[in-house]
Amino acid sequence: MIFYFIFIAAAALSILAYSVVSFWRTRVPFVATPNDLRKRIAAALSITSESVIYDLGSGRGTFLFAAESYHPKTLVGYELSPVHYWLALAIARLRHSRVKFVRRDFMQADISKATIIYLFLVSPIVQKVWKKIKSECAPGTIVATLSDTIIGHPSYSTINLRPHHPRTGKLYLYRV
Ligand SMILES: C[S@@+](CC[C@H](N)C(=O)[O-])C[C@H]1O[C@@H](n2cnc3c(N)ncnc32)[C@H](O)[C@@H]1O
Repeated sequence: MIFYFIFIAAAALSILAYSVVSFWRTRVPFVATPNDLRKRIAAALSITSESVIYDLGSGRGTFLFAAESYHPKTLVGYELSPVHYWLALAIARLRHSRVKFVRRDFMQADISKATIIYLFLVSPIVQKVWKKIKSECAPGTIVATLSDTIIGHPSYSTINLRPHHPRTGKLYLYRV
């Protein structure tokens, strides 16, 4: 019994330590795209069978699983936090999903093939990754950001997903 308790406590502590280390590294807290928004965001992205969708900071894959129901060509999530990455892999297996998850810093990823990029991060990181997107992605690539704008680049569409929560419920759509 005592060994069982020690095992559970050690597992919980490891998960906590992993989460703290990832947050320290990325400076982006884990918050999943809210349940009531996922499908509406995916619906706003004009996904076709040719779409190549990247979620940079994919957490446990919630947005990508919602986007998968639109049958795009490829879905890829980059996630640094081991806990969320493993959870995403486990959920993908249970769902028989074809979403590909990569445990890597998205700032070092090759994102040149993306046709749609989804970002739910924090403003300083959104500005940083936008520079990378502009230099690597083809003109016309769609970039969707939840909550944070890209400073100095006008969105072609702003969707107020939660009129009663204007700060957190806006989706901004941009083109490279
Ligand atoms: C706010 S959560 C969003 C999760 C997911 N996109 C969703 O909408 O449900 C942001 C995630 O980005 C991850 N992240 C932040 N910076 C990263 C980086 N440089 N490389 C990979 N993942 C990163 C964090 O670990 C966190 O899980």
